[in-house]
Amino acid sequence: MKLVTGNSNRPLAQAVASYLELPLTDCTVKRFADNEVYVEVQENVRGEDVFILQSTSYPANDNLMELLIIADALRRSSARRITAVLPYFGYARQDRKSAPRTPISAKLVSNLITEAGANRVLTLDLHAAQIQGFFDIPTDNLTAAPVMVRDIKDNYDVKNVMIVSPDVGGVVRARNVASRIGASLAIVDKRRPRAGVSEVMNIIGDVEGQTCILIDDIVDSGGTLVNAAEALLKAGAKEVSAYITHGVLSGTASERIAASKLKELVVTDSILDTEATRRAANIRRMSIAALIGEAVARTASEQSVSSLFD
Ligand code: R5P
Repeated sequence: MKLVTGNSNRPLAQAVASYLELPLTDCTVKRFADNEVYVEVQENVRGEDVFILQSTSYPANDNLMELLIIADALRRSSARRITAVLPYFGYARQDRKSAPRTPISAKLVSNLITEAGANRVLTLDLHAAQIQGFFDIPTDNLTAAPVMVRDIKDNYDVKNVMIVSPDVGGVVRARNVASRIGASLAIVDKRRPRAGVSEVMNIIGDVEGQTCILIDDIVDSGGTLVNAAEALLKAGAKEVSAYITHGVLSGTASERIAASKLKELVVTDSILDTEATRRAANIRRMSIAALIGEAVARTASEQSVSSLFD
């Protein structure tokens, strides 16, 4: 097998390679003078089971193009099977026609990845589970829940923890974590009047005196988390932390989180961190390299991936 990466998250690709005790395949991914993506695979991949690790995170368009062009290069180099390993699948938030004349970008991107040559997809905490069905090739949607649960048990007294979903859409995800640690669940009734703006309407559940832990897939502007933390503290919560799989953290989100009432925000390394994230005293990162590495190893040896989560 071979593990190839673009430029989206080289430290994670290196960590997965170390887990697999495999060197990263030598592959040049750079730019022409006009910024077009140039790819050249420097090793023979004929007949190989090849995994491309690439998050389609910021800059999403560049990272997506790198993924597509690497897949094309591998297909034309006679790789036996190509698996797109997407620790973060970007373009997931337009996953249905939510208003007239809007695209379904998640479907378009799924089509592009398949057309470029991917035979399988391995991803993590898709924004909406049904995006799995947008691919007509085998797709494994891993969850970071076991990694979160381990970290929560190591850092919190789970007897006093209440898990909170920051919106109604995230209840299944939050309940999964709550049931793994035997905690109860509260729900924030969030309204999004327009893209990028969120408002808390109500809190469903009694959070008085509780250590609340918000669980979500994405933190982007940080608005959802900061508003939820304020509303929970107002409703009597003792303290509020958050475990989020994908730290998109665009613009001034890290500074916003640092200045908020959140005790801590824990994100995985599915997306490369930035200087601003590293500077924020209340943002911590936990690695999903072993989880991704194990899923890659099991895919390569045709073993069950779902049993990773039993
Ligand atoms: C929404 O459905 C997602 O699960 C996240 O809650 C959302 O994307 C977070 O965005 P922001 O940090 O910009 O509020």
